[in-house]
Amino acid sequence: MTDTTDILGREEIIRLVDRFYEKVRDDETLGFIFDKVAGIDWDAHLPKMYAFWQTVLFRDGGFRGDPIGKHARLVPLTHMGREQFDRWLEIFEETVDELFTGENATHIKACATDMANVIHSKINAIPDARFDPAKLTDEQRAKYAAYRETKPE
Ligand code: HEM
Repeated sequence: MTDTTDILGREEIIRLVDRFYEKVRDDETLGFIFDKVAGIDWDAHLPKMYAFWQTVLFRDGGFRGDPIGKHARLVPLTHMGREQFDRWLEIFEETVDELFTGENATHIKACATDMANVIHSKINAIPDARFDPAKLTDEQRAKYAAYRETKPE
């Protein structure tokens, strides 16, 4: 049995990222995209991803980059569709749950889901449902109505 704690800082981020990409590299749907299609330099990619998630969770990772541009470049080279993003998210969530539990663990999964949706829709030029009023869910409608009521003029 292993003790599970929350993601408290850089040390936990490093464990999460290392384990996540270990699984990704072994995955049939995703592994070859990193190793064959993008021919990634792991010694550069892993520290970049530590910085990325540290910036997302704790605002102090100093990440700078262009995630949309970097993923968009892969679109003409391979499949970067819903199947790939769903698998990415599945492995990410599974890894977080395997190692951590708590508020930050829950939060990082929500951030990953939001970003996967944004990256997927932007790189495939799919219109964002939130900007088509006809496609809003009742929950979104209520949320935006509440926001309009509280927004200062
Ligand atoms: C189908 C799913 C995905 C695949 C196959 C994928 C693959 C890649 C590859 C190959 C790179 C390196 C690109 C390069 O350096 O030229 C990269 C970079 C990156 N990925 Fe992903 N990715 C996926 C989903 C995601 C998601 C959902 C996130 C965020 C939650 C993410 C965050 C990043 C970031 C932050 C970088 C570094 C970008 C930069 O250097 O500016 N990726 N990804």
